[in-house]
Amino acid sequence: MIKTNDFMEIMKGRRSIRNYDPTVKITKEEMTEILEEATTAPSSVNAQPWRFLVIDSPEGKEKLAPLASFNQTQVTTSSAVIAVFADMNNADYLEEIYSKAVELGYMPQEVKDRQIAALTAHFEKLPAQVNRETILIDGGLVSMQLMLTARAHGYDTNPIGGYDKENIAETFGLDKERYVPVMLLSIGKAADEGYASYRLPIDTIAEWK
Ligand SMILES: Cc1cc2nc3c(=O)[nH]c(=O)nc-3n(C[C@H](O)[C@H](O)[C@H](O)COP(=O)(O)O)c2cc1C
Repeated sequence: MIKTNDFMEIMKGRRSIRNYDPTVKITKEEMTEILEEATTAPSSVNAQPWRFLVIDSPEGKEKLAPLASFNQTQVTTSSAVIAVFADMNNADYLEEIYSKAVELGYMPQEVKDRQIAALTAHFEKLPAQVNRETILIDGGLVSMQLMLTARAHGYDTNPIGGYDKENIAETFGLDKERYVPVMLLSIGKAADEGYASYRLPIDTIAEWK
């Protein structure tokens, strides 16, 4: 696998790849590394609400296929399809995250105590819809990092929004009220080059004030 650390090559060379070499399997070890690297993404109050379902077995893919509408090639040929979810129970992990930061010397104990008190009060009155919007942003950020990290490992991806978001959680035994679908990401060794796509000029999309 051709690996690279050239950021511009990783970013500018990324294209959605929908067709993969089905003989190439990413090992659990390497997939774990990819996820570790991707999860260096920032998140609101560092709650890290992203959750991943790595669908790489024939049985898993068989379950996924009926939900993946027109995106069948990605499901059948990829090494894995990663279903990215955002966890509505994100606040439950703050104690663990902030305690670990203290233990590792990243944060003084008194800062943690103050933060946890403030965040507990914040989450108690946070409307579910606002939490949902926030965790979806975090889910988008980690997904982007995952796509770039995949390229650093020599793989390519396709972000997929065309799937049955209503049923994805329950199909895989997850609580649909808790796990909000972000996107599917197919990942594997590219079998073709994909195609170039146009980007709007900055004049159209940015304003200076
Ligand atoms: C949230 C999201 C959903 C997408 N859904 C699909 C999809 O269902 N099927 C597909 O083939 N491509 C899908 N794409 C890929 C886009 O078509 C693609 O990113 C865009 O055309 C730009 O091409 P590029 O990724 O090669 O730069 C999706 C992309 C994003 C970001």
